[in-house]
Amino acid sequence: MNNIQQYIIICYSTSQMLRVDSLLKALDVTTDLIPTPSEYGSICSTAIAISKEDKEKAEKILQEGNFAIKGIYPHKIRKLAGLMESLKHNVISEPFKAIIKKVEVGETLTKEEITFLLKIEGEAELKVLFETADRMRKEIVGDVVEVRAAIEFSNYCDKSCHYCGIRKGCTVPQRYRMTEDEIMEAVHELHDVGIKTVVLQSGEDEFYTVEELTKLIKRIKQETKMGITLSVGERSYEEYEALKKAGANNYLLKIETTNPEIFQFIHPDDDFEVRKQCAQWLKELGYVNASGNMIGLPGQRPEDIAEDILYFKKMGIHMIGIGPFIPADGTPFEKYPQGSVEMTLKAVAVTRLVCKNVYIPATTALASIDEDGQRKALQAGANSLMLISTPPKYRINYQIYSGKNMIDLDSAIQAIKDAGRKLPKYLKILPEEE
Ligand code: 5AD
Repeated sequence: MNNIQQYIIICYSTSQMLRVDSLLKALDVTTDLIPTPSEYGSICSTAIAISKEDKEKAEKILQEGNFAIKGIYPHKIRKLAGLMESLKHNVISEPFKAIIKKVEVGETLTKEEITFLLKIEGEAELKVLFETADRMRKEIVGDVVEVRAAIEFSNYCDKSCHYCGIRKGCTVPQRYRMTEDEIMEAVHELHDVGIKTVVLQSGEDEFYTVEELTKLIKRIKQETKMGITLSVGERSYEEYEALKKAGANNYLLKIETTNPEIFQFIHPDDDFEVRKQCAQWLKELGYVNASGNMIGLPGQRPEDIAEDILYFKKMGIHMIGIGPFIPADGTPFEKYPQGSVEMTLKAVAVTRLVCKNVYIPATTALASIDEDGQRKALQAGANSLMLISTPPKYRINYQIYSGKNMIDLDSAIQAIKDAGRKLPKYLKILPEEE
């Protein structure tokens, strides 16, 4: 059996990993950064993949450079054995078949092929695409749906992103900032039901300085030991570093789109290069790096979404949230058409096929325009859900888009059940809910 085409290098820290990666690249070894497969534990969340032809060369370079690496391991290319055979009763076009064959043997898809998949229409072909992504999801990340919960602790924002319902200058019923005690109360409620990761999200609100956030992070760790995802926007390298040191584990900063013109058009105060730089810093600092995009932005074509997916792969992004754009009342984009459920599901499916070992949430935005959206996403490649756990009295003021669905534990459990999937063992729910 000689089906090893790739090897992966696992390092002891992200900084080591990035040094090794740039040295290998400088010496003409082609590398790919991938989320570390779970069997290697939580040493460094990103691994370096190289081809088998480059293995000896890489070993020599690593020995000479005296790097502290855990090891070089064979990396099985993910194949979906028997895929074509299992789909033989479906009528699909020849070019689609050719792509499915590549997925079956684990070959890398090109931008053109990714775009082709995103342009698929018609019930029969969509079914094949979603089923293929569902199988990839099952084989790589299994049946358990990860459940996290977000506390939106401030809706003050210094930015005026054209799509966002809490943008600076937008009329919201009320601007609010939760106090540390209020946040802790919400954190404990989540901890009590067994949730393991809390997402702390806010507008880009300078009120919450690194000192404030550090205090909060330390308190959460001390009192609950929960995993912490921060989602507080663009900050400096030093701030990201301090927050990581304080105990933050993950960071969610969406790229929203990798088309520079669209990015600039929708973000009057932002710079595309800065956004990419922030994502790079987060990676260098060893955060589990979460990104994502919106589907149906003005001027966005399937080719742009294909680029987004290739960007997630190239950056080794660990968690990818894909949601439809939804017009928000009172924003410059309030009259723009909303993104389609179908295109969002296609993007979820193709992202699973291309990025493979990643977390893909069935987003709140999708649930907001389609009651059954989360189940559909879970059956098209998604494997996680995020609850909205902002205290009820504040929630109404965090309408980043109109008609935002409030995903609570009950509706998440329902979506998981409807999708025929497993609840995580850590949830402490009453037996009759199981
Ligand atoms: N439609 C859809 N998603 C939106 N977001 C913000 N505003 C909108 C909107 N109008 C998403 C963005 C952002 C996340 C917090 O919510 O992707 O990163």
